[in-house]
This record gives sequence, structure tokens and C-alpha cells, in this order.
Amino acid sequence: MGAIRYELIKTCKQSGARLGRLHTPHGVIETPIFMPVGTQATVKTMTPEELKEIGAQIILSNTYHLYMRPGEKLVEKAGGLHKFMNWDRPILTDSGGFQVFSLSKLRDITEEGVTFRSHIDGSKHFISPEKAIEIENALGADIIMAFDECLPYPCDYDYAKNSLYRTIRWAERCLKAHKNTEKQALFGIIQGGMYRDLREESVREMIKLDFPGYAVGGLSIGEPKDIMYEVLDWTVHLLPENKPRYLMGVGSPDALLEGVIRGVDMFDCVLPTRIARNGTVFTSKGKLVVRNAEYAEDFRPLDEECDCYACRNYTRAYIRHLFKAKEILGARLTTIHNLRFLLRLMENVRQAIMEDRLLDFKEEFFEKYGYNEG
Ligand code: GUN
Ligand code: ZN
Repeated sequence: MGAIRYELIKTCKQSGARLGRLHTPHGVIETPIFMPVGTQATVKTMTPEELKEIGAQIILSNTYHLYMRPGEKLVEKAGGLHKFMNWDRPILTDSGGFQVFSLSKLRDITEEGVTFRSHIDGSKHFISPEKAIEIENALGADIIMAFDECLPYPCDYDYAKNSLYRTIRWAERCLKAHKNTEKQALFGIIQGGMYRDLREESVREMIKLDFPGYAVGGLSIGEPKDIMYEVLDWTVHLLPENKPRYLMGVGSPDALLEGVIRGVDMFDCVLPTRIARNGTVFTSKGKLVVRNAEYAEDFRPLDEECDCYACRNYTRAYIRHLFKAKEILGARLTTIHNLRFLLRLMENVRQAIMEDRLLDFKEEFFEKYGYNEG
């Protein structure tokens, strides 16, 4: 049976985008979906009740961080990640494949796994595919990710090729190590750098392993957006139609729309929550830096078209004041707003797919939002 089931509801006649439902042990997710990131078992500044109020259906958390602190054994003792953090809807955990490469120092990659030093205290650790799965099994998320190597950009062909085959061997080891297939679905991750033949080879080999879902990794790592879209054009259509597709680390409005149009169902990114804490918000007319002096006496909401708690109750002038005074409520309000903005964008995307007008929707959205806003 497996832990999850993807149901393709329909394909947009205008764009080819997919509308679907993903059935998980903690409930049904409507796709395409954006997943807020809760790196350390919390979406920074938000309570689970607030996440539900803005329409979050699934959140992401990180194996690497939870292994370091507080340790997966403690989370297991607490009754698993859902109980530990009081979130009863679906959770996806990333494997640590990305964080080990982006956060830790002095890493050493061998066939067996990766040795690295903690970004917290410098202590030495070793994570193998088996270890990553053991940690993810202990955490207990509905969807868990295979342990992979996320290549840097740029990356030469020979390195990308060797790494790709190692990531495929690691994926096989992850499948063998996975103990909890009825409660947790293990997704494979497509790598291969920015090389077409390697991406195609990665898809072919990963499909043979018959994962219940597939992610496209190694993107949004500093390459131009055109290149990311090209890689999606090469890969997504080769993935099985009856399984979910997840584009890792992507969350700008333009990339969400371009990804959905290319057949992607799931996205995650720290962007909305990170820029919120810096005082930057998405609005229907593009991004706005609410800390700026020009909003000192602006008594309008962050976005006049937004239905979130922040926009229903507070002004730009007040939120700017909170940031200037270093009051925590400022970051809470901008985080609520930015996440609601992306979740509503995806609600509108799903509606547009249902009505076969996603390309029209995209045009109308960027007409107002601006084409170069990101
Ligand atoms: N998050 C963003 N990109 C990646 C990737 O390539 N691999 C993993 N494991 N996580 C990611
Ligand atoms: Zn708002």
C-alpha cells in the first residue's frame, strides 16, 4: 500500500499544470502546494494555530538541525515530531543532504557517507544514507527525503557525473534502510547539476528504484533562473504521472508559477519567512520594505488585497515602528503576511488550473506584481 497516495485530479488545458491531492497519514494535501519551513521544529515566530489559520497544509523540517539539537532520540521519546511540536498535519523532513553541504565546515565525502563538523559547536559527525534514514524514521514525518549530495553551482561535468552515480547508490541504500514504509513515504531526489544528459540519467535510474515521490534537487543554488527553468523542462516531464513531484528550495512567486506550469506539485523555501524577519513583504504590487522611512506615516495595510491577520488589523506605519523599536511582534506580523501571501497565491493557482486558465492568471498576476520582482 505505502504511506501516501497521489491523486491527479486534472491537468490545466492552457498550461499543462497539475491539480492533485496527496493523501498522507496526517491528512490530505491539495497540490500544487507551498510548504512553510520549520527548520528547528518551529516555523519561526508562528504557532501551529496561526499556521492553520493562514491555510498551511504541510510544513517542512530539517533532519540535520534536529539531529544536532535536540537529537532525534529526544524527539522520538516525546512521541515523534508531530507531538513534540504540536502539529497534527503532515510534515516532510529533508534528509540533511543539503544542510551538510551548505552549513557545515570541513566536510569529507566518501562512498560510505559524509564526515563534517557541526555549525553549532564544531563537533565531528558522520552521516551515511543509513544514518539519515534512521534519524528520519525516529522523527516520524509523513514524507522523508533520501540522503543526497547537492552540488554547488557551477560544477564541472566529471564531478557532477561521479556525484550523481553516488547519489543514486545512496538512494538505493536509503530504500533498504527505510523501516517504516507504511507510515512514512521516502522520496528520491534528482540531481545531475545543470547537465541535460546527467539529469535524464538521474531520472531514469531513480524511476527504476520506484520511489513513491520524486524531488528535483540541486536548483535555486545561485544559477540564473532561466537555467533552473531549462533543467525543469528537461526533467519533470520524464517523471511518473501518478506520483508527486517536489521542487526543493524554491519559493519566489515567479519561480512557483514557472514550476507549476512545468508540472511541479510541491515547493518549500525559507525565503518568505527569512525576508519577513528583515522587514520585507510580498504585496500584490511587488515587494515592499516596510522598514523604510517612506512608510513612517503610511496607515494602509501591508497589502490592500490581503486577508491575513496582519493586514486586517495593522498599518505599515505601526509595523515599521515595531521593526525600528526591535519589537518581536513586527517579525510575527510580517511572517504571517508573507506566508499567507504565498499560500493564497497557490490557492489561486489551484483555482486557475481547475478552470484551465493558469497562463491568463500568471499574466494578470505579473501585470500587477511586476516582472522583475522575483
Ligand atoms: N534543499 C534544496 N535543494 C536541495 C537538494 O538538492 N537536496 C536536498 N536534500 N535538499 C535540498
Ligand atoms: Zn497580509
